[in-house]
Amino acid sequence: MNTIIPILPSETPAFARDPYRYLEEARKEHPWLARFAEGYVVHGYQESIDLLTDEKNLRIGYDMIIDFYGVRGSMWARFMNEMMLAVSGETHRLLRGSVAHAFTPKRAKRERESMRRVMNELLDKWAPAGNFDFAQFSAQFPVSVMCAILGISTDVLPQITAALDNHTKSLTFDPDAKPHFMAGWDVLWDFADRTVREHEASGERDPEALLSSLIEAKNAGHLDETNLRFMLILLLIAGYDTSKNQLSVAMNLLLDRPEIYERCARDTDYCRDIVEESMRYSSVVSNYRFALRDFTFGGVEFKEGDTIVMALPLSGRDPSVFPEPERFDPQRENARRHIAFGRGAHICLGQFIARYQLQEGLHLIAQRLKNPRRAGEVQWRPFLGVGGIKSLPIAFDPT
Ligand code: HEM
Repeated sequence: MNTIIPILPSETPAFARDPYRYLEEARKEHPWLARFAEGYVVHGYQESIDLLTDEKNLRIGYDMIIDFYGVRGSMWARFMNEMMLAVSGETHRLLRGSVAHAFTPKRAKRERESMRRVMNELLDKWAPAGNFDFAQFSAQFPVSVMCAILGISTDVLPQITAALDNHTKSLTFDPDAKPHFMAGWDVLWDFADRTVREHEASGERDPEALLSSLIEAKNAGHLDETNLRFMLILLLIAGYDTSKNQLSVAMNLLLDRPEIYERCARDTDYCRDIVEESMRYSSVVSNYRFALRDFTFGGVEFKEGDTIVMALPLSGRDPSVFPEPERFDPQRENARRHIAFGRGAHICLGQFIARYQLQEGLHLIAQRLKNPRRAGEVQWRPFLGVGGIKSLPIAFDPT
């Protein structure tokens, strides 16, 4: 079937700033698909789900990045090929099955107290200034929460966040990034290795705690020593850019909605609705997939090797699922149906941790940063991959 597929300038700064204004025009030409320089962008809600659950025709993979940097054979390349998010089928099922019990809603809920403590400590440190770059502030939160969950000191925080920022550079196809992310990798590996060794030496065993659960999975033979360390590193990487950027995007939305922001200070349950609606309205992650073979879907012929990106931030604006999608509506009944955490086998393992930390974080931020307003230009990250806000200068009245 011959169809006209529009082009979305998804790699441009203008698109990153406001991707939604391009969507309506694109939809007139094709209801769920567009092209970008490197392949296809799927923006339909149901089509994103169908393709994310199609393991027969599509795969995840990082070979392109590994070959671009010429680092085949390095430990970093091994991580990019063997970590849970890179593998599929039975290998993935076994790996995920061995740790999934540590990421249930109940386990995540247990961490809410630590999340509150971490956010309060950060606010104690940052709020007295009366102004800061919210994106820099929010970058401290997910790693601090992960350290708290793993039961380790936050002394390592500056090195870890710098290493994670360097890891992100590997996804930019910038030849100058190589020494940075390779050095960052060494920091992450040493951190994971030390964390495991120290925990094993301490003899502590709390079957409900994340680190003990992961070590238990290794002792039961479900993970080997390397995979255990890869899992810890993946948790840091997967939870970092995603959570900090989503928090910054939510804050940016609330700066224009002071009444909603004020209510967040009073009502934690309401913060849950705000988190879901902000993830429906403006999420940050797009999922890359590659065609394993020629196949036809929805009347479109895809070719082996095609790059197909599920633009999850755009799927939340699909009017066939979310009526009046441009309206930010905390009362929206089906906001929780958003697919900002993906779908299919690789659906976000940390989604309950992410949801609680955003909810608790927003609640305390709204309590302690009063009357927040923009104090400079908002800068956006590239849309594809993990997008969102790079810089959000704000001023406020500290309490
Ligand atoms: C708002 C914050 C977050 C968002 C929007 C998000 C989004 C996602 C998405 C879309 C995927 C699927 C990727 C794909 O299919 O290609 C994913 C996977 C994953 N996420 Fe998250 N994530 C968030 C926070 C977290 C946190 C805090 C953790 C860790 C505690 C985490 C751990 C993971 C892991 C381990 C995977 C891989 C799962 C697998 O391969 O089976 N994420 N995330």
